[in-house]
Amino acid sequence: MSRPTVGVALLGLGTVGQGVWKHLTAQRGDLEARLGVRLDIRGVAVRRRARARGVKVPSRLLTTDARRLVDDPRSGVIIELIGGVTVARTLVLRALRAGKTVITANKALLCEHGPEVLAAAKAGGGRLFLEGSVGGGIPIVKTLREGLVANRFDLIVGIVNGTSNYILTRMGEDGLSFDAALEEARRKGYAEADPSLDVDGVDAWHKAAILGFLAHGKWAPRSRALVEGIRKVSPADIGFARKFGYTLKHLAVVRRDLRAGWMSVGVYPALVPSGDILAKVSGVNNGITLRGDVVGVTTLAGPGAGADATASAVLGDLADALLEIRGGARPGADLHALAKAGRSVPMAPEEAIVSPFYLRLTLKDTHGVLAGIYRTFARHKVSIARVVQYEHPDTGTGTLTLSTYPGNERDMARVVAELARLRTVLEPPTLLRIFAP
Ligand code: HSE
Repeated sequence: MSRPTVGVALLGLGTVGQGVWKHLTAQRGDLEARLGVRLDIRGVAVRRRARARGVKVPSRLLTTDARRLVDDPRSGVIIELIGGVTVARTLVLRALRAGKTVITANKALLCEHGPEVLAAAKAGGGRLFLEGSVGGGIPIVKTLREGLVANRFDLIVGIVNGTSNYILTRMGEDGLSFDAALEEARRKGYAEADPSLDVDGVDAWHKAAILGFLAHGKWAPRSRALVEGIRKVSPADIGFARKFGYTLKHLAVVRRDLRAGWMSVGVYPALVPSGDILAKVSGVNNGITLRGDVVGVTTLAGPGAGADATASAVLGDLADALLEIRGGARPGADLHALAKAGRSVPMAPEEAIVSPFYLRLTLKDTHGVLAGIYRTFARHKVSIARVVQYEHPDTGTGTLTLSTYPGNERDMARVVAELARLRTVLEPPTLLRIFAP
């Protein structure tokens, strides 16, 4: 039987694009044989043709006209690896409206324009594959849509930004400075083109929103999510964590109260009990724990960033897309059905989001200071669990680090706001969450 030919266009030849090119060309024969198709690579869209790259693409395939490539009637599959929400958005919408299959690793686009992208797919009959957008090489999208589709998840918690995890690991285990660790992550191709997306929690937020959608059908609005990065983490926080059996990690947390119906999404640095499996996910790895009402607790871990890990996810999507085009099954939960089911899911009120907290305060070192601090906690009924205090006699200041028993976000925000107003509190307090499953 002759194999059908499928035209594939690649948009973008940055870190991930080069990884996809490298592995697609290396694995092409195997992929074609396994999937029973022939690939016709229609072209590779780039911003500039002449540029030093780690892969050699025949110049006849390179084009700066991405739109022409999308419009090419023989391009059935468009792999979008441009990133960002401007050019990429226009091209993805155009391809989907034309009924093409789009494979994307663009988490920003999905998070910020998810409903529009799905509407375009619905209107034009295009198909969307997004494995590369979350979890690097971990097949988390497939896991949610296929393997664990029978579950409802009251908790999804993960390390989803490889760069932040790399930095925290290098700071915590090797004593590197934040800047030196970030520079290493950039050199290794983990960081975004604008690394503030990584270290300020934005990339993790994009991924958390996608996980929230895949699990609950709801695109959480940014205005209702706590989005914090790792810039504020200091060696004092790492020291406190270590002393009391925690490891500092940057987490994405999606919770759902299966009775009340609400969902919450947050990304922030947190003290994770060192015995938790996520505390052991180090370096550029991602780890995602899912608590499902059927399967129980399941954790997936693996490389979360970098050209090769993401290429693996993108090529997995390509395999699924090709099977579908060949007339095979469409596996997994339907994204449109998910979106319909998630329409009525409310976001959690602040007082429903509960955890123990950690706080670091820089204080004037004088009598009565602690009494004022403790009074503030008492007024808002937040109970202190542990306190470690350091004096800095040369400067007349002190550092107070403490943890609390579980409290809610609203009460704790009030405590912090009030503490920040005290004359004895010299710098804005640093508040971190302590992860409790
Ligand atoms: N900059 C991202 C990260 C790349 O560090 O996780 C993978 O999405």
